[in-house]
Amino acid sequence: MTTPPGPEAARRLTLQEIAQAKRDGRPLVMVTAYDYPSGRIAERAGVDLVLVGDSGAMTVLGHSSTVPATMDEMLMLTAAVSRACRRALVIADLPFMSYQVSDEDALRAAGRFLKEASAQAVKLEGAGPMLARIRALAGAGIPVVAHLGLTPQTATSQGGYRAQGKTAQAALRLLHDAHAAEAAGAFLLVLEAVPAPVAERITHELRIPTIGIGAGAGCDGQVLVFHDLLGLGEGPLPRFVEQYASLGDDAVQAVTRYADDVRERRFPQERHTYAISEEELEHFQRLVEAGSPVGADDEDGVL
Ligand code: KIV
Repeated sequence: MTTPPGPEAARRLTLQEIAQAKRDGRPLVMVTAYDYPSGRIAERAGVDLVLVGDSGAMTVLGHSSTVPATMDEMLMLTAAVSRACRRALVIADLPFMSYQVSDEDALRAAGRFLKEASAQAVKLEGAGPMLARIRALAGAGIPVVAHLGLTPQTATSQGGYRAQGKTAQAALRLLHDAHAAEAAGAFLLVLEAVPAPVAERITHELRIPTIGIGAGAGCDGQVLVFHDLLGLGEGPLPRFVEQYASLGDDAVQAVTRYADDVRERRFPQERHTYAISEEELEHFQRLVEAGSPVGADDEDGVL
């Protein structure tokens, strides 16, 4: 009988397998993660792609947008997730202003995620001048994920967190940008908050897989933010989120019960404590009563 392969035997998903999933019509599953435990959960659940999103600025760092995320913060979060993931492909979000100014900036930032945080790919938002960044990164052999539709880093200039591509012209622009991102070398495209028929058309026309978030079932895969799908956040959720658990409420209940148990002296109990032999305890008490200094534990000497 052979033993089943352990977690160390898991083999990393390749870009070729991700591309093949689209051709086979097999939906790709992506979730965000921001630390070792969330990375482990994603890995154990068997998701294909783990995105260390700059949404971590909001979900784990408490900011009100993704804009404040820094390179150092994102590198630390990505390195922790990478330590947790063996099969899932780890994608790091390039933080705002780490790539917008120049190709050189983008290459340096992306290189750090691969070398220092063990990510396999990076994601950046937008088209237009960002297409040159995609080209530069892909040309340097760095796998790039493009992100179109609602792009949270520039949500202010998009008029806020709102669906994109809702007019014929805007939808056409999205389709063109999607083709341009593919031509520039992106291996995957995230479509956020885009009408389902528009995302479906883009998905149909592209060779690379699309991953939707609020972009309908016609995409090649789906992504959700870890804290949203597990009910770990606060406040109203976007309409495109399906909440699969209420872990935040469960956690508050558990910590409240713990606090009550401490205050009512129900915790800790005998089973939570360590034993000492009667003999050692008596010896200890004699040492204390004799005012013995530490180390002077020769009973004859102190009594
Ligand atoms: O930062 C993030 O979590 C993202 C996803 C919403 C795609 O970019």
